[in-house]
Amino acid sequence: MTPPSRLVSLVALPGGGKSTVGRQVAKRLGVDFVDSDQVIEDRMGCSVRDYFEREGEAAFRDLEQAVIDELTRGTSGVLATGGGVVLREPNRRALHERSTCLYLRSSPEELMRRLRGDTRRPLLQVANPLARLRDLHAVRDPLYREAAHFVIETGRPSVPTLVNMVLMQLEMARIGRESQPGASAPGPLPAGTPAAAPPAAVLASDAPKAA
Ligand code: S3P
Repeated sequence: MTPPSRLVSLVALPGGGKSTVGRQVAKRLGVDFVDSDQVIEDRMGCSVRDYFEREGEAAFRDLEQAVIDELTRGTSGVLATGGGVVLREPNRRALHERSTCLYLRSSPEELMRRLRGDTRRPLLQVANPLARLRDLHAVRDPLYREAAHFVIETGRPSVPTLVNMVLMQLEMARIGRESQPGASAPGPLPAGTPAAAPPAAVLASDAPKAA
């Protein structure tokens, strides 16, 4: 399916860079940035970790689903999601159908390197967080791919490089969309947005989904 034009969403495992990269992409595009976990925390008046501990994961997922439904309706801007957002099919569908969704894909080992010492993420407060990340990766990688229009293999680039990779992918999606017969809506990107182009080899876009 051709990606929709207005809202850009980012999915990834914890530590994948959704918030850091998303905020900077939004800044470069001159659009709003929203983080669904932040919206949940503002509404609940407590951290995601506290909410998980108090109410359990299912309650958190219900809330997350309601927030994703709301944030993907009629908005433009950049949306960073929680790492488990893809576990529910309605969330995958909402992100795929109502946004241009990018998956920032990293290996569990790379994520572990970035998350060492993290105390904020409830699912990683275990004796062996790397084993947990490997399990999460195995389960979720296909789900992120299902939600996303494009996969960006992050490797170990700097944040500015990742930001440029995302901007370049969005620009390519926009060009593709505008070259389609009957395309009319302008894309979300101001002209000439991407500054430096990353090496093509590190940027992997998956085939658009058949859905
Ligand atoms: C979760 C990831 C967290 C947060 C919650 C659940 C997950 O977001 O939504 O702790 O299931 O992976 P981040 O990906 O920003 O850490």
